[in-house]
Amino acid sequence: NYVWRKGNLIERSNAEVSLEDRGYYFGDGVYEVVRLYNGICFQLEEHYKRFVRSTEEIDIPIPFDLLQFEDMINSLSEKNNVSDGYIYIQITRGEQERNHLYERGLDPVVTAFAKEAPIPFEKQKNGVALYALEDIRWLRCDIKTINLLGNVMAKRKAEDNACDEALQHRGTTVTEGSSTNIFIVKDGAVITHPANELILNGITRLFIQELAEKHQVPFLEKTFSVEEASNADEMFISSTTMEITPVVRIEGSFQADYSIGPVTKQLQEAFSEAVR
Ligand code: PDD
Repeated sequence: NYVWRKGNLIERSNAEVSLEDRGYYFGDGVYEVVRLYNGICFQLEEHYKRFVRSTEEIDIPIPFDLLQFEDMINSLSEKNNVSDGYIYIQITRGEQERNHLYERGLDPVVTAFAKEAPIPFEKQKNGVALYALEDIRWLRCDIKTINLLGNVMAKRKAEDNACDEALQHRGTTVTEGSSTNIFIVKDGAVITHPANELILNGITRLFIQELAEKHQVPFLEKTFSVEEASNADEMFISSTTMEITPVVRIEGSFQADYSIGPVTKQLQEAFSEAVR
C-alpha cells in the first residue's frame, strides 16, 4: 500500500505527519475526493479546478498544475492497483509552531491515498433514509476544508437515528447532506440549492445538471424549504462515492416518505451509461 507524501510515493507504514502540521492543530487545509472508473479518473479537470479554488480561498499556494495533479492520481492508482475506487487528496498549509497567525511561505503538505471502493448499488436501487437537522456549519461551505466538525456531527446523529445520511437545513432552507448534495423533484423539474457559499458545489451535482440538460429535464438552482421538501414528488442525493442515490424517508426535524420516481431513475440510468 503506497501513499503520496510531498511529491513521493512511499509505503504507508513509512508515511509520517508532523505534530506541528497546521492541519492537525487547526484543520488548516483543504481536500478532494476523485472517483476512478476502470482506472480512469472521473471529471479530473473539474476536481482540479475546485481544489485550486479551495486553496486560493484560504491563501495556500497551489503546489502543482493540472498535469502534475493527474500524474499524482494516476501513479497512485497504478501503484496500488486500484481500478474502481477513489483517491483522497489533501493539502495543509504546512508545519509551524502552534499559532493562530499563519506564516506565508510555509511548505504545504500534500498527502493522498487510493482506495478500492464498490459502488453502493444496493442503496441506489432501494433508496436511503435521511435525518433532518439544523445546519450549524460556518458560512463558507463552498470551500472543501478538512474542518468538517459540523458535517461529522450531523452524520453521527443520522446514524444514531438509523438513517444513512443527514439532511441539513439553515432555518427552513434545505442546504445539503453531511457529504452529499440534495435534490428534490417537483412536477418533473429537478430543484437544488444554488451553488453559493452555503453548500459545496459538488462535481457530481455539476454532472447531473449536464445530464438533465441533455435529456431535457428542467433543472432549477433555487432554494427550497423543508415544507417544499416534504411535498416533493421525489428526492435524491449525490456525491462522488454515492453517485445518484434516491431518498425514500426523512426523519428528525420533519418527516416524509417518497417513492423512487421516474426522474430519479432516468438520471441514474443516464449517469450509469456515462461512466460504465
Ligand atoms: N464529499 N457536499 C459536501 C458537504 C460534501 O462533502 C460532498 C462530497 C458533496 C458532494 O460533492 P462531490 O459530488 O464533488 O463529491 C457535497 C466527499 C465525497 C467526501 O467528503 O468524502
